[in-house]
Amino acid sequence: MRKPIIAGNWKMNNTASEGVALVNAIKDNVKNACCDVVVCVPAIDIPAVAEVIKGTNIELGAQNVHFAAKGAYTGEISAEMLKEYGVKYVIIGHSERRQYFGETDETVNKRTLAALEAGLIPIVCIGESLEERETGKTETVLDRQIETGLKGIDDISKVVIAYEPIWAIGTGKTATSEQANETIAYIRKKCGETFCPKCAEKVRIQYGGSMNAGNCKALMAMPEIDGGLIGGASLKPVDFAAIVNFDK
Ligand code: 13P
Repeated sequence: MRKPIIAGNWKMNNTASEGVALVNAIKDNVKNACCDVVVCVPAIDIPAVAEVIKGTNIELGAQNVHFAAKGAYTGEISAEMLKEYGVKYVIIGHSERRQYFGETDETVNKRTLAALEAGLIPIVCIGESLEERETGKTETVLDRQIETGLKGIDDISKVVIAYEPIWAIGTGKTATSEQANETIAYIRKKCGETFCPKCAEKVRIQYGGSMNAGNCKALMAMPEIDGGLIGGASLKPVDFAAIVNFDK
């Protein structure tokens, strides 16, 4: 059995004080969750949010991590810096980082290996663009992202994969539950071939892209979908709590 994981990706939203207010507004409403509950917050919010989640079932995630342990990498943050505040998860290779900040499958791979080495759980984002989907390239793109981005990982079940079709992010256009389920099944099959079939059965694969309080039940009812990576709706306390409580 794979334990579902619902993670909010706040992206570049919420100052530290706004983040504290948001967590305070959700914490009582998510305390009976059947799933892992994670908030992936801007790096500068981490100390304040780490304080306010103490004693709750909410876990802390970052939105990126550098692959070096330390050194001359101005503006970057290391795994040890995150861990000192109790960060457990880290998003790696979000499509926005690939699109705007030059992230590649190779840098995704370096960051993922470094995160694992440090004992963080990477949430590795993969997914195709609209053009790639419409021209039948979805599987080729996912193959490349898995083969290169996840290269050299000895136990793939230590990673969370987020399948985020780029055309569904922030657009209000969700993949249908069937489409998401089918593509996630493909990702699991590919992980089985690339790594080991047993580990592929254990790896948690989230869906991300305009997931909200209205569509979460149908998505989460799909057998291959193990959770969600939530952008916009994670900024609204009522909506995020409703998604976390998808089973209620
Ligand atoms: P939205 O939920 O706003 O579409 O964002 C999804 C996402 O990119 C989560 O990482």
